Amino acid sequence: MLWGSRFDKALDELVARFNNSFYFDWRLYDADIRGSIAYAQALARAGLLTDAEMRAIERGLNQIRDEFARGVSSTEPGTGFVAQPDDEDIHTAVERRLFELIGDPAHKLHTGRSRNDQVATDTRLYVMDAIDRLQSQVSRLQSQLVAQAERHFGILMPGYTHVRRAQPILFSHYLLSFFWMLHRDRERFADAKKRASVLPLGAGALAGNPFHIDREFLARALGFERVSENSLDAVSDRDFIAEFLFAASLLQIHLSRLAEDLILYSAPEFGFIALDDAYTTGSSLMPQKKNPDALELVRGKTGRTISNLQALLITLKGLPSTYNKDLQEDKEPLFDAVDTLEMTLPVVAGVIQTLRVNVDAMRAALDEGMLATDLAEYLVRRGVPFRRAHHLVGALVKQAETRGVKLSALSLDEFRAVSDAFSEDVYAVFDFDASVKARDVFGGTSPRAVREQIADAKKVLAK
Ligand code: ARG
Repeated sequence: MLWGSRFDKALDELVARFNNSFYFDWRLYDADIRGSIAYAQALARAGLLTDAEMRAIERGLNQIRDEFARGVSSTEPGTGFVAQPDDEDIHTAVERRLFELIGDPAHKLHTGRSRNDQVATDTRLYVMDAIDRLQSQVSRLQSQLVAQAERHFGILMPGYTHVRRAQPILFSHYLLSFFWMLHRDRERFADAKKRASVLPLGAGALAGNPFHIDREFLARALGFERVSENSLDAVSDRDFIAEFLFAASLLQIHLSRLAEDLILYSAPEFGFIALDDAYTTGSSLMPQKKNPDALELVRGKTGRTISNLQALLITLKGLPSTYNKDLQEDKEPLFDAVDTLEMTLPVVAGVIQTLRVNVDAMRAALDEGMLATDLAEYLVRRGVPFRRAHHLVGALVKQAETRGVKLSALSLDEFRAVSDAFSEDVYAVFDFDASVKARDVFGGTSPRAVREQIADAKKVLAK
């Protein structure tokens, strides 16, 4: 028991269970042990531990880390870390075990430290590590997008707005649109990591450490960029988790939108792409079915991540200053968001890597109506103001529609009856490739612009 003597009674059994966080926060063991090793070194430097005591603590903590790495159980000594009913959280569990292993020096480790600055330190280390892992997973997905954009360079597809065919685009251009969303996600993670990289250790329970602990040393030892400026703020600042969860939510939303597109495009009604069998599932009843369950789960799991962000924000709202036990509720949403993304990202990368493209179906879905804008632009190039051109082409579209023919089936006389700016060369407008090629602005869908975009994307990936 951590606080023993002041109390007349043991904690109510139900409250003990209510209070317990070990069953989820044991996952912080590596961060907790790193933090404690650095703290023991700082104590030794401040003259509060002898070198021998410090080394005993280090040795014990390293052994505990090995035990955790082999697994956690509440029975069967010898298999890994054996949790005890009194292990309230990861911090008390590690200290309890350390005492079993090395005796008295274990009881000096917590000198000047509180679980308040300890848990804040651990959680920041955990978030910084999680961001590093997620960054490489996101960049692997980005590489798959670029690889497919290169492999299918030159293929045309209908670009949609409102799920209505709008203008022809390059399939590569479509794929790369997600590359840039993911690029912003990576920037957001990098930014969130900067603000996570602030050391709270040394803040004590709330008022600061009285033992001349070298916080700069601790920051360097643990890989933090800076030390916190205010101990009251340090023990209760969970902004870094909120920022992480926002970045995670937005990333998950991008993945969800991609999943939604791919579900649609792989439906037989579109038939633009085929998902690999390894990423689809059958129906227990209908033998013909091939369902995009994996992508549906990518979409579906987005809700959890968004609610994790909400849960944390609601926990933080209205908390009185400094540490309150409510803050223990920060961890499960965080862990869940990390777990969800670490499962989701490789699934999406696999779907992208293995998807097959049906070039003919994409081509066949292009219709001349999608060139109506090009027709208006033809008139603009011949001096007709755009608003007027838009209006005139609208009349032509209507005419073709009433007669049930394609725009290009209208005769030159019919074109000229609408505007004498039309001449024989108007028929050259009915060319999907030319339409795509014309959108040659930086960031546009022309093959030249998309080639440039691929080169830029590769530069981003190489960084
Ligand atoms: N398990 C606790 C948490 O996650 C550790 C900090 C406990 N601090 C305290 N004053 N009770 O927040």
